[in-house]
Amino acid sequence: MKVLVGKDADIKEGRLKGFVADGRKYVVGRFMGKLFAMDGKCSHAGFDLIYGTVRDGAVICPAHGAAFDISDGRKVAHAGARDLRVYIVSLEGEDVHVEI
Ligand code: FES
Repeated sequence: MKVLVGKDADIKEGRLKGFVADGRKYVVGRFMGKLFAMDGKCSHAGFDLIYGTVRDGAVICPAHGAAFDISDGRKVAHAGARDLRVYIVSLEGEDVHVEI
């Protein structure tokens, strides 16, 4: 299912934007100019990643420091967390879509 999540210009470098689809939370963000999307809840204890930061190619959970690679969702920090899923992001004009 393709979900419209906003305008390209509204997704700023190094920032996260949340969206909900089908009752699940997701985040979309931009790192080094490239858009990405991943699950919106941390796999450690379920904190909302919308409050996280983007650093060195990973989304960092602010609760206990779990980190997830933006390219494949792989957990890169925190033994108690699991990998997250990432999703395909596409642009149609200025509209950003995520395939969930
Ligand atoms: S809930 Fe994210 S690191 Fe604990």
